[in-house]
Amino acid sequence: MKIDGEGVGDIVIEGKTKIVYRSADHPGYVVLQSKDRITAGDGARAHDMAGKAEISTATTTAIFDLLKQAGIKTHFEKCIGKTSMLAKYCDMIPLEWVTRRIATGSFLKRNPGVTEGYRFCPPKLETFFKDDENHDPQWSYEQCVEAKIKVGNRVISQDDLDIMSRTTVTVFEILEKAWSSLDCSLIDMKIEFGVDPQTGEILLADVIDSDSWRLWPSGDKRLMKDKQVYRDLKNVDGESLNTVKRNFEWVAERVKFLSPKPSSRVVVFMGSPTDGEHCANIKKACIKYGVPCELRVSSAHKGSEETLSILAKYEGAGVPTVFIAVAGRSNGLGPVLSGNTSWPVINCPPIGGDWGSHDIWSSLRLPSGLGCTTVTSPDGAALAAAQILGLQDHVIWAKLRTKQLNTWIGLKVADQKQREEMCVD
Ligand SMILES: Nc1ncnc2c1ncn2[C@@H]1O[C@H](COP(=O)(O)OP(=O)(O)OP(=O)(O)O)[C@@H](O)[C@H]1O
Ligand SMILES: [Mg+2]
Repeated sequence: MKIDGEGVGDIVIEGKTKIVYRSADHPGYVVLQSKDRITAGDGARAHDMAGKAEISTATTTAIFDLLKQAGIKTHFEKCIGKTSMLAKYCDMIPLEWVTRRIATGSFLKRNPGVTEGYRFCPPKLETFFKDDENHDPQWSYEQCVEAKIKVGNRVISQDDLDIMSRTTVTVFEILEKAWSSLDCSLIDMKIEFGVDPQTGEILLADVIDSDSWRLWPSGDKRLMKDKQVYRDLKNVDGESLNTVKRNFEWVAERVKFLSPKPSSRVVVFMGSPTDGEHCANIKKACIKYGVPCELRVSSAHKGSEETLSILAKYEGAGVPTVFIAVAGRSNGLGPVLSGNTSWPVINCPPIGGDWGSHDIWSSLRLPSGLGCTTVTSPDGAALAAAQILGLQDHVIWAKLRTKQLNTWIGLKVADQKQREEMCVD
């Protein structure tokens, strides 16, 4: 059998809202086929909704694209049709990871005395054991540890739980920032993880769609666009179901705009083409952080007018820009740029074999009224620029945040290996 051109084999599992098939064309992968079905309350309420599969797939694939682009490790490979996507097969971990920015819903019932609207900083993390019959009981961290949950051929360890905890909060923060760029408040969110049986890696899995979160346009609960509208319905009829569907469509149309093309940049001014290699390293690092980067040659000492005219062109284009000045010996370039623009300037002098420690002072000891900073490594200068641009560009911010997460996970996994090796010795 084929689904949207992809050969499929056995059904791995059929749930309330989707069917998971083994891919016949891609060993180790599955096809997640969405159903035209909406359910709530562990299936207590359930209705057919024509078009829901398409809306859910459009939403979840756009969200996973955004997260993958940021560097989050996910099961998602690609969207293959209007109602189906290709993903890595995972041994699913039966836990739901919930993050909350604002207290509402079941949290208020479980925590009497907390007022609706209470803001959690950092986001509040909760874990629920997936068990429909017992209504997905909340589990503490310690319960998750002690349960020694077995998936595939491994037991979920404390390290695994820590990795999932931190990843959950990062995913929430990324999606919160993305939605905020469209003036929508992400109030809370639910996700699931699985283990890739081939690599042993923990991957963000399942789906993230209008069933997974509370989303309040302009932070106004009355405007909610998520499944809560369906949960709250007193009488479910054609008209009310249509309202729910229109809300989901509203979300599916907007998720496309959560991954805009880069709207900011770095421009590197080099005082001499001999600094080209140093500048190429800055550009390489900028690209790694998702920041477009242009290189220009202009000497503030020997071609001052030209330097200022290039600067004026960039400022006039209206694209948020961080300038990086690369000049050897006496750095006139950075301070001159800084004295003539209100945009950020970072000095990144190319420190070579003929440098003395006094040479750095032309970058550090500035006339009054100048605020350029100095970072001596090409990667560090690019990172500093990306952090500045990440203040208003959530896509860049997401890349930086995920880089920190993945560094943290890398250390955690390396430490785990060391401990395992000690046990073998
Ligand atoms: N990459 C994957 N590999 C294998 N199974 C997956 C993958 N992603 C999601 N699943 C599983 O697909 C199943 C079917 O999804 P669905 O959401 O329809 O189930 P459900 O009825 O909501 O039940 P559940 O309470 O388990 O989510 C879920 O149990 C989910 O864990
Ligand atoms: Mg589910």
